Amino acid sequence: MTESPWLLVLGANSDMAIATAKRYAQAGYNLYLASRNLEECQKNATDIGLRYQVETQALKFDAQDFESHAEFYAGLVVKPQGVVLAFGFMADQQAAQKEFALAKAMIDTNYAGAVSILEIIASDFEQRHSGFIVGISSVAGDRGRMSNYIYGSTKAAFSAYLAGLRHRLIKSNVTVLTVKPGFVATKMTADLDLPAKLTAQPEQVANAIFKAVENKKSTIYVKPIWRLIMLIIVHLPNFVFHKTKM
Ligand SMILES: NC(=O)c1ccc[n+]([C@@H]2O[C@H](COP(=O)([O-])OP(=O)(O)OC[C@H]3O[C@@H](n4cnc5c(N)ncnc54)[C@H](OP(=O)(O)O)[C@@H]3O)[C@@H](O)[C@H]2O)c1
Repeated sequence: MTESPWLLVLGANSDMAIATAKRYAQAGYNLYLASRNLEECQKNATDIGLRYQVETQALKFDAQDFESHAEFYAGLVVKPQGVVLAFGFMADQQAAQKEFALAKAMIDTNYAGAVSILEIIASDFEQRHSGFIVGISSVAGDRGRMSNYIYGSTKAAFSAYLAGLRHRLIKSNVTVLTVKPGFVATKMTADLDLPAKLTAQPEQVANAIFKAVENKKSTIYVKPIWRLIMLIIVHLPNFVFHKTKM
């Protein structure tokens, strides 16, 4: 009898991460749920474990604590078959323009933290000649815009990183998926007034991720309309773009 595979979820308290963890549990995966708030991880691990009858383990993980990452991964007794990187931090753009600490927290979490842990995981998957890596990036990285270019630039860097990682790992039978969710109704966006038609639910993101990994896709926009919207935004000439306030 083959053992059930494990999925490692980083930033596991994110609403999208919880929905994705449930989707994988439904498919029989055991789960490592890792994030800063261990108590919350433990609660979700117990709940999902009971509901889906899979093994779960809650772990402390801080994306900004780079030095801890090698030891964190070495500590996983059974190495995972896949990883979903969901952690992210979005500070208010105006506040981050004034306070570099906020900009740095976004850079350190969304980009540096992601590179730090994924390089460790990628080397393991490369050696094992199997695995999948899912990175939750953002359409905000497709073009820098005045309303959120600091957060957006961290996601642009993350998307470029994932593209390069995919290129490196393709010959090792490891797939890398970049997820651009568009707007999603989560605690990160709870204070924003999002248009319903453009906003996905965490469960839609989870289903889209599961299907895209199965189909070995490279990049997905969760709601297809976002691919068109971003195509237009990316190609707007500056003389038009600079008149907008987006
Ligand atoms: N919501 C959207 O509209 C949207 C759109 C595009 C992309 N995204 C991206 O999607 C991902 C998931 O976002 P979400 O909307 O589900 O957000 P969320 O519910 O606010 O969750 C974000 C999670 O990131 C974790 N996190 C933050 N800093 C961390 C750190 N230093 N180390 C470890 N974990 C950390 C937090 O964990 P703790 O609870 O443990 O502190 C939090 O639970 C993020 O990367 C976000 O940038 C979101």
